[in-house]
Amino acid sequence: MSSLNENARTLVSNRRGILAADESIGTMSSRLEKVGVEATEENRRVYRELIVTTPRLSESISGIILADETFHQQVSNGRTFPEFLADLGILTGIKVDTGAKPLAGAPNETITEGLDGLRERVTDYVRLGATFAKWRAVIKIGDSLPSDRAVRANVHALARYAGLCQEGGLVPIVEPEVLMDGAHSLAQCQKVTTAVLESLFDELNLMQVQLDGIVLKPNMVVAGTDSPERPSVTDVARATVDALRATVPASVPGIAFLSGGQSPEAATKHLGAMQGLSPLPWELTYSFGRALVGPALETWRGDNDNWAAAQKALSERAVANAAAR
Ligand code: G3H
Repeated sequence: MSSLNENARTLVSNRRGILAADESIGTMSSRLEKVGVEATEENRRVYRELIVTTPRLSESISGIILADETFHQQVSNGRTFPEFLADLGILTGIKVDTGAKPLAGAPNETITEGLDGLRERVTDYVRLGATFAKWRAVIKIGDSLPSDRAVRANVHALARYAGLCQEGGLVPIVEPEVLMDGAHSLAQCQKVTTAVLESLFDELNLMQVQLDGIVLKPNMVVAGTDSPERPSVTDVARATVDALRATVPASVPGIAFLSGGQSPEAATKHLGAMQGLSPLPWELTYSFGRALVGPALETWRGDNDNWAAAQKALSERAVANAAAR
């Protein structure tokens, strides 16, 4: 078994999942401000310390994705975040894309950037303790969207990112996110998600990416946030698994979903319902951001008297998701 395959398996097995704590400085700052916390470098560090010091986190969390800022910070005991996570038996991931930028020739669509200098950055991150990486491509559904241009540009970038990560020894989390924004139906989301995943695996194969050494991080197939449709938990689970079965080779060890703006409870229920739809050739797990840490941030609000309660809120979500598996 290659070390890429071994690490990918570690990330997705034993009923554990991945915690996405890699919000960019801008996104994290606005989330802190929303709960009344000043958006300083130190407050972003303290909030991430709250997450990683949550008791018994490693029982349900196999890996945590960090942003570059956090990756180079220390927890209060003087260990860097990657060192602290290694002490806990949690793998460190690093977000290596530099964000979604407007795509020329494709109004209202984006291309995720960050390939320049990536080979050197991967080497540095590995030296400092990273085991896996993340790159998020963003696909919008709308009037005649997504365009072929946007899909092809984004899957191409994802495949080149994945190849560079594997060359340097990092397991790439490959994240093509079809957004929930919009009034689209469940069926439209399923159609677009299927087409994007099909195109993604064509490109990963073309770029000779080792499929047993990646983790796929897709959206669940849901109706748009402005859609009048309210699909049942079973409908979402079936539509999601159908899209995956049609496109994802069995050699991929695991699929770790993003939550994408679903409520924490809905994301957990959907994940649980999918487990019953066997046979599934891959592990199905979570790589949630908001659906894991949202309640903790709301509880903490920058007040250290709320520290333990906030950690309890995170722990409850992590345990619920592990149980859903
Ligand atoms: O890139 C997105 C995150 O890794 C997952 O975040 O679960 O809040 O959508 P989310």
